[in-house]
Amino acid sequence: MKQQTITAVNLSDTELGEIRGLIEQRSAILFDASRERFFSTRVREHLEERGLASGTALLRQIRGSSIEYEALLERLLTQETSFVRYPAVFDALDKKILPEVQERKFWENPRSLRIWSAGCSTGEEPYSIAITVCESLKFAEAWEIEILATDISRRALRHAERGLYSKRSIQNLSLPQAETYFSDTKHGFQVKPRIRRMISFAQMNLSESVYVGKLDCIFCMNVLMYFSDERRLAILRRFYDALEPGGYFFLGHSETLTNVPVKFEPVVVGGCRIYRKIALAESRRAALMMEGSL
Ligand SMILES: C[S@@+](CC[C@H](N)C(=O)[O-])C[C@H]1O[C@@H](n2cnc3c(N)ncnc32)[C@H](O)[C@@H]1O
Repeated sequence: MKQQTITAVNLSDTELGEIRGLIEQRSAILFDASRERFFSTRVREHLEERGLASGTALLRQIRGSSIEYEALLERLLTQETSFVRYPAVFDALDKKILPEVQERKFWENPRSLRIWSAGCSTGEEPYSIAITVCESLKFAEAWEIEILATDISRRALRHAERGLYSKRSIQNLSLPQAETYFSDTKHGFQVKPRIRRMISFAQMNLSESVYVGKLDCIFCMNVLMYFSDERRLAILRRFYDALEPGGYFFLGHSETLTNVPVKFEPVVVGGCRIYRKIALAESRRAALMMEGSL
């Protein structure tokens, strides 16, 4: 019988606290009391897998090597996602937001549409956006479309770029959508090149300020909920600045901007709450009304 070596792991609360602090400092992800058990279990598993005897040895390793730091981070990330995760959101994109962009930009040359999926995980979110754009935008080929899909996890991005999914994971899509946008291969359902070409995948840490240009929509669903209030606010302000006036911002269902001091206007469409950056003309008009000049 094969013998298994079990290393006795020595992990104190102080060491756990230092590891937690380092992760938060570099990635913004906060493991608060509600995720304490998840955090310590995963760190312990990592120590065992790496054959390290203490938290101090792990700290030395992750401080000295970015590869080792990333390996630990990958183990700690929550990457749950699915195609068309919130149908009402994709319905709003299809029926309200894209028609609005279409009308606003109809006479622009070139006509461009830029959408960011920030924290895209294994790609289901940006591919769902691409499918919705193809179905909603009239004469999609007449537009310059870019869907920027970023994540801190290189492993998730590799999966996303491959664009290969199981039958079960595409079950939220309709049969015509599955047939139109995927090829049924012996390895699974492969995203067709037409959809794949609309997306630029890139590794990006949201806690670092990176210039992404102006965007019509930003999706950051189920990511910021893991950050501290301070980090969340700084990132939300960057999202606000990156949006075109009249652009839209999407959070996950259980997230909200209530009591967050950013200037987004909440809009409820078909039961889902999304956020809009007020267009310049509208904010001038609102200011004039406040002054009593209108
Ligand atoms: C729960 S998933 C959400 C995926 C998708 N947005 C959705 O709602 O289905 C959270 C994603 O955020 C990513 N993430 C966490 N911290 C990040 C950071 N600092 N910068 C960029 N991405 C991050 C994780 O790797 C993970 O893929």
